[in-house]
Amino acid sequence: MSKVLAALNDQVIREFYSAYLYLAMTTYFADAGLPGFANWMRVQAKEEVTHANKMYDYLLSRGHKVVLGAIDAPPASWKSALDVMKAGLAHEQKVTGYINDLASLAVKEKDHATQIFLNWFVTEQVEEEQNFTDLVNALSLIKGEGQGLLMLDRELAGRTFTDATATADAG
Ligand SMILES: [Fe+2]
Ligand SMILES: [Fe+2]
Repeated sequence: MSKVLAALNDQVIREFYSAYLYLAMTTYFADAGLPGFANWMRVQAKEEVTHANKMYDYLLSRGHKVVLGAIDAPPASWKSALDVMKAGLAHEQKVTGYINDLASLAVKEKDHATQIFLNWFVTEQVEEEQNFTDLVNALSLIKGEGQGLLMLDRELAGRTFTDATATADAG
């Protein structure tokens, strides 16, 4: 069995964990009376499912029999909106590390197709980290409270889900 495809199989499970984590964060915001933040995080969770499926489809196309392992339980509580976004950023940084390791392995194993496939995720991770960084910065500026928090909540209510993996180059 290809080492590269086996490693990518592990990432499928991690993408589902990302969705699970962001769904738990959605619950936190809904419970905290921040529906806009909850909406933003729900969209984030949906995006992670599309990432998992994009990898799953690729593995099937390569004839790899995907094995679905257990998904860890995410945390259920955070101290504040800022605390949530910091945790989200730290998580995305970890995921970037996994994607980079996968890309390096594909190079090492001369799996050019997987190298090209992973390019989409390498680019996506830049955006993912940027999104969370922006929110960490905004929440830090407004000290996570008052009018600023309400305004940010209204802004985040406007995020809509689009399947970015469903494009011509989606593989
Ligand atoms: Fe992802
Ligand atoms: Fe992500």
